Amino acid sequence: MYLIRKIGIVGTGMLGNGVGLHLLQSGFNLTVYNRTKEKTIELENKGAKIVNSPKEVAENSELIIIIVKDAEAVKEISFGDNGILKGKHVGLTVADMSTISPLESKNITKIFSEHKIMKLDTPVMGGPNLAILGELVLIASGDKETFDKFKDVFEEIASKIFFLEGNGTAHLVKLSLNLQITMLALALSEGITLMRSASVDPKIFLDILNSTNFKTGMSENKAYKMIQGKFDSTFTLANLRKDISAITETAKVFGVKLPMIEKADEMYAEAVTNGFGKLDYTGILAYIKKINRP
Ligand SMILES: NC(=O)c1ccc[n+]([C@@H]2O[C@H](COP(=O)([O-])OP(=O)(O)OC[C@H]3O[C@@H](n4cnc5c(N)ncnc54)[C@H](OP(=O)(O)O)[C@@H]3O)[C@@H](O)[C@H]2O)c1
Repeated sequence: MYLIRKIGIVGTGMLGNGVGLHLLQSGFNLTVYNRTKEKTIELENKGAKIVNSPKEVAENSELIIIIVKDAEAVKEISFGDNGILKGKHVGLTVADMSTISPLESKNITKIFSEHKIMKLDTPVMGGPNLAILGELVLIASGDKETFDKFKDVFEEIASKIFFLEGNGTAHLVKLSLNLQITMLALALSEGITLMRSASVDPKIFLDILNSTNFKTGMSENKAYKMIQGKFDSTFTLANLRKDISAITETAKVFGVKLPMIEKADEMYAEAVTNGFGKLDYTGILAYIKKINRP
Protein backbone atom coordinates (compact mmCIF):
# COMPACT_ATOMS: atom_id res chain seq x y z
CA MET A 1 0.00 0.00 0.00
CA TYR A 2 1.24 3.50 -0.83
CA LEU A 3 0.62 6.84 0.77
CA ILE A 4 -1.51 9.00 -1.52
CA ARG A 5 1.46 10.83 -2.89
CA LYS A 6 1.07 13.96 -5.02
CA ILE A 7 3.62 13.55 -7.78
CA GLY A 8 4.31 15.97 -10.61
CA ILE A 9 6.04 15.34 -13.92
CA VAL A 10 7.46 18.10 -16.09
CA GLY A 11 8.42 16.72 -19.48
CA THR A 12 6.45 13.96 -21.15
CA GLY A 13 8.68 13.03 -24.04
CA MET A 14 9.39 9.35 -24.60
CA LEU A 15 10.82 8.70 -21.13
CA GLY A 16 8.49 11.00 -19.15
CA ASN A 17 5.41 9.48 -20.74
CA GLY A 18 6.57 5.97 -19.77
CA VAL A 19 7.37 6.95 -16.18
CA GLY A 20 4.02 8.75 -15.90
CA LEU A 21 2.02 5.80 -17.23
CA HIS A 22 3.65 3.48 -14.73
CA LEU A 23 3.05 5.82 -11.77
CA LEU A 24 -0.62 6.17 -12.72
CA GLN A 25 -0.97 2.42 -13.03
CA SER A 26 0.57 2.11 -9.54
CA GLY A 27 -2.05 4.40 -8.07
CA PHE A 28 -0.15 7.66 -7.65
CA ASN A 29 -1.86 11.01 -8.00
CA LEU A 30 -0.16 12.69 -10.99
CA THR A 31 -0.03 16.30 -12.21
CA VAL A 32 1.68 16.81 -15.55
CA TYR A 33 3.03 19.61 -17.72
CA ASN A 34 4.69 19.36 -21.11
CA ARG A 35 5.61 22.29 -23.36
CA THR A 36 3.86 20.54 -26.28
CA LYS A 37 0.47 19.69 -24.85
CA GLU A 38 -0.40 16.92 -27.34
CA LYS A 39 2.22 14.72 -25.69
CA THR A 40 0.17 14.64 -22.47
CA ILE A 41 -2.98 13.14 -24.03
CA GLU A 42 -2.20 9.51 -23.18
CA LEU A 43 -1.50 10.42 -19.55
CA GLU A 44 -4.67 12.54 -19.36
CA ASN A 45 -6.71 9.60 -20.67
CA LYS A 46 -5.22 7.42 -17.93
CA GLY A 47 -6.15 9.89 -15.17
CA ALA A 48 -3.36 12.49 -14.93
CA LYS A 49 -4.26 16.11 -14.23
CA ILE A 50 -2.78 18.21 -17.05
CA VAL A 51 -1.83 21.81 -16.20
CA ASN A 52 -0.50 24.78 -18.16
CA SER A 53 2.83 25.49 -16.47
CA PRO A 54 5.59 24.01 -14.28
CA LYS A 55 4.40 26.52 -11.64
CA GLU A 56 1.01 24.75 -11.48
CA VAL A 57 2.75 21.37 -11.28
CA ALA A 58 4.65 22.67 -8.23
CA GLU A 59 1.48 23.99 -6.60
CA ASN A 60 -0.14 20.55 -6.97
CA SER A 61 2.82 18.33 -5.98
CA GLU A 62 5.07 17.31 -3.11
CA LEU A 63 7.60 15.72 -5.48
CA ILE A 64 8.23 16.94 -9.04
CA ILE A 65 10.14 14.70 -11.42
CA ILE A 66 11.79 16.69 -14.21
CA ILE A 67 12.36 14.68 -17.41
CA VAL A 68 13.35 17.14 -20.14
CA LYS A 69 16.01 17.22 -22.83
CA ASP A 70 19.01 19.07 -21.42
CA ALA A 71 20.30 21.48 -18.78
CA GLU A 72 18.92 24.53 -20.64
CA ALA A 73 15.46 23.00 -20.58
CA VAL A 74 15.80 22.08 -16.88
CA LYS A 75 16.72 25.69 -16.06
CA GLU A 76 13.90 27.09 -18.18
CA ILE A 77 11.17 24.99 -16.59
CA SER A 78 12.67 25.47 -13.12
CA PHE A 79 13.57 29.15 -13.01
CA GLY A 80 11.83 30.73 -16.02
CA ASP A 81 8.47 32.52 -16.26
CA ASN A 82 5.83 30.30 -14.64
CA GLY A 83 8.62 27.91 -13.66
CA ILE A 84 8.72 25.55 -10.69
CA LEU A 85 10.15 28.25 -8.39
CA LYS A 86 7.02 30.36 -8.88
CA GLY A 87 4.91 27.55 -7.37
CA LYS A 88 7.19 26.78 -4.43
CA HIS A 89 5.75 25.74 -1.07
CA VAL A 90 7.03 24.17 2.12
CA GLY A 91 8.17 20.58 1.59
CA LEU A 92 8.44 20.78 -2.19
CA THR A 93 11.13 18.45 -3.57
CA VAL A 94 12.45 18.25 -7.13
CA ALA A 95 14.07 15.15 -8.66
CA ASP A 96 15.86 15.66 -11.96
CA MET A 97 15.76 12.57 -14.17
CA SER A 98 17.08 14.37 -17.27
CA THR A 99 20.60 13.46 -18.40
CA ILE A 100 22.69 16.59 -17.84
CA SER A 101 26.24 17.43 -16.81
CA PRO A 102 27.13 17.04 -13.11
CA LEU A 103 28.35 20.63 -13.06
CA GLU A 104 25.07 22.02 -14.37
CA SER A 105 23.27 19.74 -11.94
CA LYS A 106 25.21 21.11 -8.97
CA ASN A 107 24.42 24.70 -9.97
CA ILE A 108 20.73 23.89 -10.38
CA THR A 109 20.68 22.22 -6.93
CA LYS A 110 22.32 25.32 -5.44
CA ILE A 111 19.71 27.66 -6.91
CA PHE A 112 16.87 25.47 -5.67
CA SER A 113 18.42 25.26 -2.19
CA GLU A 114 18.72 29.07 -2.06
CA HIS A 115 14.92 29.00 -2.38
CA LYS A 116 14.59 26.26 0.26
CA ILE A 117 13.58 23.62 -2.28
CA MET A 118 15.26 20.23 -1.92
CA LYS A 119 16.64 18.83 -5.18
CA LEU A 120 17.79 15.28 -5.93
CA ASP A 121 19.72 13.99 -8.94
CA THR A 122 17.86 10.94 -10.26
CA PRO A 123 19.07 10.00 -13.78
CA VAL A 124 18.10 6.56 -15.06
CA MET A 125 19.26 3.79 -17.36
CA GLY A 126 16.68 2.08 -19.54
CA GLY A 127 14.23 3.52 -22.01
CA PRO A 128 10.47 4.06 -22.28
CA ASN A 129 9.75 0.32 -22.53
CA LEU A 130 11.33 -0.36 -19.14
CA ALA A 131 9.85 2.85 -17.70
CA ILE A 132 6.32 1.61 -18.41
CA LEU A 133 7.13 -1.57 -16.48
CA GLY A 134 8.78 0.28 -13.57
CA GLU A 135 12.05 -1.49 -14.30
CA LEU A 136 14.48 1.35 -14.82
CA VAL A 137 17.84 1.47 -13.07
CA LEU A 138 17.92 4.69 -11.04
CA ILE A 139 21.07 6.41 -9.84
CA ALA A 140 20.41 8.96 -7.13
CA SER A 141 22.52 11.56 -5.36
CA GLY A 142 21.82 14.50 -3.08
CA ASP A 143 20.41 14.68 0.43
CA LYS A 144 19.87 11.13 1.78
CA GLU A 145 17.05 12.12 4.12
CA THR A 146 15.14 13.70 1.23
CA PHE A 147 15.78 10.63 -0.92
CA ASP A 148 14.46 8.37 1.86
CA LYS A 149 11.32 10.49 2.15
CA PHE A 150 10.40 9.57 -1.45
CA LYS A 151 12.03 6.16 -1.62
CA ASP A 152 8.67 4.47 -2.20
CA VAL A 153 8.19 6.51 -5.38
CA PHE A 154 11.67 5.75 -6.70
CA GLU A 155 11.19 2.05 -5.90
CA GLU A 156 8.07 2.11 -8.03
CA ILE A 157 9.93 3.71 -10.95
CA ALA A 158 13.02 1.50 -10.81
CA SER A 159 13.81 -2.12 -10.06
CA LYS A 160 17.39 -1.23 -9.09
CA ILE A 161 18.46 1.89 -7.21
CA PHE A 162 21.94 3.14 -6.38
CA PHE A 163 22.28 6.02 -3.92
CA LEU A 164 25.56 7.95 -4.12
CA GLU A 165 27.06 10.66 -1.95
CA GLY A 166 27.58 14.19 -3.27
CA ASN A 167 25.52 16.51 -5.43
CA GLY A 168 25.90 15.78 -9.14
CA THR A 169 27.57 12.37 -8.63
CA ALA A 170 24.64 10.45 -10.12
CA HIS A 171 24.85 12.55 -13.30
CA LEU A 172 28.59 11.91 -13.54
CA VAL A 173 27.91 8.15 -13.44
CA LYS A 174 25.08 8.52 -15.95
CA LEU A 175 27.41 10.27 -18.41
CA SER A 176 30.01 7.51 -17.94
CA LEU A 177 27.28 4.96 -18.69
CA ASN A 178 26.19 6.81 -21.83
CA LEU A 179 29.83 6.84 -22.90
CA GLN A 180 29.58 3.02 -22.91
CA ILE A 181 26.37 3.14 -24.98
CA THR A 182 28.07 5.43 -27.50
CA MET A 183 31.08 3.17 -27.94
CA LEU A 184 28.96 0.01 -28.19
CA ALA A 185 26.75 1.55 -30.90
CA LEU A 186 29.83 2.67 -32.83
CA ALA A 187 31.67 -0.64 -32.44
CA LEU A 188 28.65 -2.63 -33.64
CA SER A 189 28.12 -0.22 -36.55
CA GLU A 190 31.73 -0.49 -37.71
CA GLY A 191 31.77 -4.30 -37.33
CA ILE A 192 28.56 -4.58 -39.37
CA THR A 193 29.94 -2.17 -42.00
CA LEU A 194 33.18 -4.16 -42.29
CA MET A 195 31.21 -7.39 -42.81
CA ARG A 196 29.07 -5.78 -45.50
CA SER A 197 32.13 -4.34 -47.27
CA ALA A 198 33.12 -7.94 -48.06
CA SER A 199 29.51 -8.93 -48.88
CA VAL A 200 29.31 -11.27 -45.88
CA ASP A 201 26.04 -11.36 -43.91
CA PRO A 202 26.58 -9.27 -40.71
CA LYS A 203 24.21 -11.63 -38.85
CA ILE A 204 27.09 -14.14 -38.81
CA PHE A 205 29.22 -11.56 -36.97
CA LEU A 206 26.43 -10.90 -34.44
CA ASP A 207 25.65 -14.57 -33.84
CA ILE A 208 29.33 -15.34 -33.18
CA LEU A 209 29.82 -12.21 -31.03
CA ASN A 210 26.80 -13.26 -28.97
CA SER A 211 28.29 -16.67 -28.33
CA THR A 212 31.28 -15.04 -26.62
CA ASN A 213 31.82 -13.18 -23.35
CA PHE A 214 31.93 -9.93 -25.33
CA LYS A 215 28.17 -9.97 -25.97
CA THR A 216 26.06 -7.14 -24.57
CA GLY A 217 22.37 -6.36 -24.29
CA MET A 218 22.84 -4.18 -27.36
CA SER A 219 24.52 -6.88 -29.44
CA GLU A 220 21.84 -9.39 -28.44
CA ASN A 221 18.84 -7.17 -29.15
CA LYS A 222 19.14 -3.83 -30.93
CA ALA A 223 21.94 -5.05 -33.21
CA TYR A 224 19.56 -7.38 -35.06
CA LYS A 225 17.25 -4.42 -35.71
CA MET A 226 20.26 -2.41 -36.88
CA ILE A 227 21.13 -4.94 -39.60
CA GLN A 228 17.51 -4.84 -40.77
CA GLY A 229 17.76 -1.04 -41.06
CA LYS A 230 15.17 -0.58 -38.28
CA PHE A 231 15.97 2.57 -36.32
CA ASP A 232 12.63 3.42 -34.68
CA SER A 233 13.65 5.50 -31.74
CA THR A 234 13.38 4.84 -28.02
CA PHE A 235 16.29 7.24 -27.43
CA THR A 236 17.16 9.58 -30.28
CA LEU A 237 20.54 9.99 -31.89
CA ALA A 238 20.21 13.75 -31.28
CA ASN A 239 19.71 13.15 -27.54
CA LEU A 240 22.73 10.86 -27.32
CA ARG A 241 24.69 13.56 -29.14
CA LYS A 242 23.79 16.13 -26.47
CA ASP A 243 25.00 13.63 -23.83
CA ILE A 244 28.26 13.12 -25.72
CA SER A 245 28.72 16.91 -25.68
CA ALA A 246 28.03 16.93 -21.94
CA ILE A 247 30.71 14.22 -21.51
CA THR A 248 33.33 16.16 -23.50
CA GLU A 249 32.50 19.41 -21.69
CA THR A 250 32.69 17.72 -18.28
CA ALA A 251 36.03 16.08 -19.18
CA LYS A 252 37.39 19.50 -20.20
CA VAL A 253 36.38 21.04 -16.87
CA PHE A 254 37.99 18.17 -14.95
CA GLY A 255 41.12 18.51 -17.12
CA VAL A 256 41.11 15.01 -18.60
CA LYS A 257 41.50 14.02 -22.26
CA LEU A 258 39.05 11.39 -23.60
CA PRO A 259 40.10 10.93 -27.24
CA MET A 260 37.48 8.32 -28.20
CA ILE A 261 34.47 10.33 -27.07
CA GLU A 262 35.89 13.46 -28.75
CA LYS A 263 35.92 11.55 -32.03
CA ALA A 264 32.41 10.23 -31.33
CA ASP A 265 31.28 13.81 -30.68
CA GLU A 266 32.41 14.79 -34.20
CA MET A 267 30.67 11.78 -35.76
CA TYR A 268 27.38 12.20 -33.93
CA ALA A 269 27.41 15.98 -34.63
CA GLU A 270 27.89 15.26 -38.35
CA ALA A 271 25.11 12.66 -38.24
CA VAL A 272 22.71 15.18 -36.68
CA THR A 273 23.69 17.83 -39.26
CA ASN A 274 23.00 15.30 -42.01
CA GLY A 275 19.45 14.64 -40.78
CA PHE A 276 19.91 11.44 -38.74
CA GLY A 277 18.99 13.06 -35.38
CA LYS A 278 15.47 11.68 -35.11
CA LEU A 279 16.56 8.07 -35.62
CA ASP A 280 17.38 5.81 -32.70
CA TYR A 281 20.97 6.42 -31.52
CA THR A 282 21.96 3.13 -33.21
CA GLY A 283 21.12 4.92 -36.48
CA ILE A 284 24.79 5.95 -36.45
CA LEU A 285 25.09 2.80 -38.61
CA ALA A 286 22.98 4.52 -41.29
CA TYR A 287 25.26 7.57 -41.12
CA ILE A 288 28.39 5.38 -41.53
CA LYS A 289 26.70 3.74 -44.53
CA LYS A 290 26.07 7.19 -46.01
CA ILE A 291 29.68 8.37 -45.67
CA ASN A 292 30.82 5.19 -47.39
CA ARG A 293 28.42 5.68 -50.33
CA PRO A 294 27.81 9.42 -50.54
N1 LIG B 1 14.63 7.78 -23.92
C1 LIG B 1 15.50 7.13 -23.16
O1 LIG B 1 15.74 5.93 -23.36
C2 LIG B 1 16.19 7.83 -22.01
C3 LIG B 1 16.81 7.03 -21.04
C4 LIG B 1 17.47 7.64 -19.98
C5 LIG B 1 17.52 9.02 -19.90
N2 LIG B 1 16.92 9.79 -20.87
C6 LIG B 1 17.00 11.25 -20.73
O2 LIG B 1 15.70 11.73 -20.36
C7 LIG B 1 15.48 13.03 -20.93
C8 LIG B 1 14.23 12.95 -21.82
O3 LIG B 1 14.49 12.01 -22.84
P1 LIG B 1 13.38 11.54 -23.88
O4 LIG B 1 13.90 10.34 -24.55
O5 LIG B 1 12.04 11.53 -23.23
O6 LIG B 1 13.47 12.77 -24.91
P2 LIG B 1 12.36 13.38 -25.87
O7 LIG B 1 11.35 12.36 -26.24
O8 LIG B 1 13.13 14.07 -26.93
O9 LIG B 1 11.64 14.47 -24.94
C9 LIG B 1 12.31 15.63 -24.55
C10 LIG B 1 11.43 16.37 -23.55
O10 LIG B 1 12.07 17.59 -23.17
C11 LIG B 1 11.18 18.66 -23.38
N3 LIG B 1 11.92 19.89 -23.67
C12 LIG B 1 12.99 20.03 -24.51
N4 LIG B 1 13.40 21.31 -24.50
C13 LIG B 1 12.58 21.97 -23.65
C14 LIG B 1 12.52 23.33 -23.21
N5 LIG B 1 13.40 24.25 -23.64
N6 LIG B 1 11.54 23.66 -22.34
C15 LIG B 1 10.67 22.73 -21.89
N7 LIG B 1 10.68 21.44 -22.25
C16 LIG B 1 11.64 21.07 -23.13
C17 LIG B 1 10.34 18.22 -24.56
O11 LIG B 1 9.18 19.01 -24.65
P3 LIG B 1 8.40 19.10 -26.07
O12 LIG B 1 7.59 17.87 -26.14
O13 LIG B 1 7.63 20.35 -25.98
O14 LIG B 1 9.47 19.16 -27.15
C18 LIG B 1 10.07 16.77 -24.15
O15 LIG B 1 9.10 16.70 -23.12
C19 LIG B 1 16.76 13.38 -21.70
O16 LIG B 1 17.62 14.11 -20.87
C20 LIG B 1 17.36 12.00 -22.00
O17 LIG B 1 18.74 12.06 -22.22
C21 LIG B 1 16.24 9.21 -21.91
